[in-house]
Amino acid sequence: MKKILLITSSVKGKDSFSIRLSNAILEKLTAAYPGSSVYTRDLTVNPLPHLDETHLGAFFTPNELLTETQQKAIQYSNQAVQELMEADIVVIGVPLYNFGVPSTLKAWVDHIARAGVTFSYEDGFPKGLVLNKKVYLAIASGGVYSEGPRKGYDFSDPFLRAALGFLGITDVTTFRVEGIAMPELQDSAFPKALDTLDAFAF
Ligand SMILES: Cc1cc2nc3c(=O)[nH]c(=O)nc-3n(C[C@H](O)[C@H](O)[C@H](O)COP(=O)(O)O)c2cc1C
Repeated sequence: MKKILLITSSVKGKDSFSIRLSNAILEKLTAAYPGSSVYTRDLTVNPLPHLDETHLGAFFTPNELLTETQQKAIQYSNQAVQELMEADIVVIGVPLYNFGVPSTLKAWVDHIARAGVTFSYEDGFPKGLVLNKKVYLAIASGGVYSEGPRKGYDFSDPFLRAALGFLGITDVTTFRVEGIAMPELQDSAFPKALDTLDAFAF
């Protein structure tokens, strides 16, 4: 029985391949761990704001010294951090937008990366404080990036692995629906992604 956090960020709703792949991962997880609960944060409906000066000021101010304005500003981040901390497993749906993650997903990362909360510096070295999590990335892209000539142009998977790893989350598995804008691949892309799920031991 696991607590699963589902993060989605595609604007395409039910037509979204990253959401469909995320849901297929959820099906596998709930079959493997009966009785699991799923909490969903759809970043297109419930986004985190872009960081501003007030957020940053609040991040570096001790709780007891926060002004009323800072308390309000930091609520978004506190909520997102709590959702992450409470989860055993995180499934992140990632539509590839302009070679990277959607800005809503980047904003989520900006709000969960908190010095003294999700990472710390000990002896000058960063130490992740978000431990014992398993993350699945469900990446959807028009082109193919897992291999071939565009391999070096997909910054979503390496970015998320670096950012999550910095917070202590190193157990990350990536599944992809790729080539959905390529006529020769678009029909087989999703079935192929489902095959990779079937071959994986959840
Ligand atoms: C704004 C935007 C930017 C995109 N940029 C890329 C890109 O850089 N590379 C790519 O292969 N596909 C790109 N695509 C195609 C999407 O990755 C593809 O439609 C994918 O299925 C999106 O995920 P979703 O189905 O979950 O929304 C882009 C699509 C949109 C809407």
